[in-house]
Amino acid sequence: MCGIIGYIGKKEAIPILINGLKRLEYRGYDSCGVCIHDNNLLKIIKAKGKIVDLEKRIKKENNLNSTIGIAHTRWATHGIPNEINAHPHFSEDNNLAIVHNGIIENYDTIKLLLQKEGYVFKTQTDSEVIAFLVNKFYKKSNNLKDAVLKALTQITGTYGLLVLSKDKREIIVARKGSPIIIGIGKNEFFVASDTSAILEYTKNVIYLDDFEIAKITDTNYEITSLKNQKINKEIHKIKTSLDQIEKSGYKHFMLKEIFEQPEKIKDALSGRIDFKNNRIVLGGICLTKEFFKNINKIVIVACGTSWHCALIGKFVLEKYLRISVEVDYASEFRYRNPIIDENSLVIAISQSGETADTLAAIKEAKEKKAKIFGIVNVVGSTIARTSDCGIYTRAGPEIGVASTKAFTNQLVSLWLLTLFIGQKLNKITEKETKEIINNLNNLPEKIKIVLNESKKIKEIASKFKNSKNFLYLGRGINYPIALEGALKLKEISYIHAEGYPAAEMKHGPIALIDKNMPSVFIINKNKNYDKIISNMQEIKARGGIIISIATKGDEQILKLSDHTIFVPKMDTQFTTFVNVIAMQLLAYYIADHKNCEIDKPRNLAKSVTVE
Ligand code: G6P
Repeated sequence: MCGIIGYIGKKEAIPILINGLKRLEYRGYDSCGVCIHDNNLLKIIKAKGKIVDLEKRIKKENNLNSTIGIAHTRWATHGIPNEINAHPHFSEDNNLAIVHNGIIENYDTIKLLLQKEGYVFKTQTDSEVIAFLVNKFYKKSNNLKDAVLKALTQITGTYGLLVLSKDKREIIVARKGSPIIIGIGKNEFFVASDTSAILEYTKNVIYLDDFEIAKITDTNYEITSLKNQKINKEIHKIKTSLDQIEKSGYKHFMLKEIFEQPEKIKDALSGRIDFKNNRIVLGGICLTKEFFKNINKIVIVACGTSWHCALIGKFVLEKYLRISVEVDYASEFRYRNPIIDENSLVIAISQSGETADTLAAIKEAKEKKAKIFGIVNVVGSTIARTSDCGIYTRAGPEIGVASTKAFTNQLVSLWLLTLFIGQKLNKITEKETKEIINNLNNLPEKIKIVLNESKKIKEIASKFKNSKNFLYLGRGINYPIALEGALKLKEISYIHAEGYPAAEMKHGPIALIDKNMPSVFIINKNKNYDKIISNMQEIKARGGIIISIATKGDEQILKLSDHTIFVPKMDTQFTTFVNVIAMQLLAYYIADHKNCEIDKPRNLAKSVTVE
C-alpha cells in the first residue's frame, strides 16, 4: 500500500528519496513520484509504474540538486493509477505539495466547496483537496504548520501526511490512522511510513501517534497535538539490520523468507521457555490471573494469512483451555455488534501491525471494554501499541507480499500463549506441556526436512504452470492450511484456487472436477486419514488430478496420487507447520515457472492501511 519518505538535511535528497521508495516497493504500488526544492520553486516528477521509470525521468532533468524533498509510492484508491493521480500533489498555484497515505472520506464535500470558490482540480484523487485546503490557509498566515492544523480540522478520514512549501525549509508531518515515523540522523531528518525506508541512514526513530503533528527543520523537530500543545516523544532504537531487508542471494524475498523459517522459529522460542521448570515465560503480559480465570470467551480478529492462523488458534486454544473461541474477519467483526465485555479476551493477529480493518476491530473491542492481546510482527507498529499487551512474533522484516515466515511465527506465538494461559489456569498437565514444548523445539529440524524437498516440489510445480484452477483440501486443524495454500497460490501465481474442508468438497466443488483440475490434499497419518482417502477416491473416480501432501513412508498415498510431497511424521497438531511449508514452496515454484512478479504481485499490498 502507499509509501512515504521525506528528507531534510545536507545531503542530496533525490538519491535518498529514490532509495527509500525502493525499500517501500514491497508494500505494493502502481505509481510514484518525488517533490524537491528547485531554485525557489517546487519540482515534481512522477511516473506511472515502477520506480526505475521514475529514475529514468529524473535522469533526463538537468541540475536537480536539492537537500529537501518528499516522495511517495501510490496504491490507487480514488482514481485510476496514472501519472496525474500519482503523488506528490501540488496546490493550485504550485506553491506547496503534499504526499498522503490514507483516505479523506469527506473529500467530495471539500472539493465541491473549493470548486465553488473557483479552484480547479487536476486529479481524481481524494488527496489533492489537502494540498488546496492547506494552501488556502497558508496564503493567509504564511505559517505552514498552522495552515496544516487548520486544514486538518476540516478533514475526516485517515492520513499520514507530508507537506512541503516552495519558500520554507521545513516539512510538516501529520498522522491519523496511517503510520509515520521520524528518523533522527546527524544534522538531518527523515520521515517515512515504514522503518525499512530509512534503515540504512538512521536507527533512531520517533513513532508519531494519531492526532500528532510535527514541524521538521534542518536543525530541529517539534511535535505537538492538533491543539498545538507540545508533546515530548521517546526516541526508539530500531533493532532490524540492513541485511534483514535484502535478498541475500535468493531469487526472491519470498523464497528467502520461506527458507528462513527454521531460524525464525528458534527466535520466536528463544528465552520464552523455562526448560528447568517447564514453564512459559512471556514478558508482555499485563493481564492478571483473575482476568484469565474469568474469561468468558476469546475472539480472534485478523485478515488474510493472519486470519488463517487465527483459525488454527481456535483449535489449539479450545482444545487446551476449554474456553469458547470465535474467529472473525476483522472487517466483519466491528459491524456485527459483537457480544463481548470486560471479561472477553480479543486476540488481534497482524504481521504489519497496521492493517486498518484489524485496528478498527480493536477499537470496537476496546469500546466494549474487552482486553486486547496483540500477536504482531512489526515492533512499535500501531496494533502493537494499541493492544493492552501482547507478544511479538519475531519473524523479522517480511518483504515478500505473500506472508510465509510471519505465519509460522504467529502460529508459534499462539502455541506459547495457549501454554501460558493453560499454565496460569492449571488446565494443561505437566505431561502435555512437555510434549508441546518438545514439539515446538523440534519444529526447525522438521521444517528443514520439507525445505530439502524443494527440488522435487519445483519439479511437480512445473507441471501446473498452465492450470487455471486448483482445489486445496484438508481436515481439522489442517483445513486452515488448505485455505492458506489456496491463498498463497492465487496471490502470487494468479491461478484461481479454493480451499475447502476435504469432506465438504462433495457438496459443490466436486462439480468442478475433470482431468484438468488439480486437487491438493493434505493427508497426514491421523484419525481423519481413512475419511480423506475416501475423498481422494471420489476425486480419482471423476478423473481429477491429485497432489498429496502426505506423511513420509505412506505407500498407499503414493498409489492414489499423481504427485506426492512427503512431510515428516509429527504429532497431528504440529503437522500444520510442515504442511504449510510444502504449500508455500508449491505456490512459489508454480508462480516462478510462470515468471510472475512474486514479491510484488499485481493489485496486492503488503500492509493494507485502508478499510
Ligand atoms: C494483506 C497482505 C497479506 C496479509 C493481510 C493481513 O492482504 O497482503 O499477506 O495476510 O494483509 O495483514 P497483517 O499485516 O494484518 O497480517
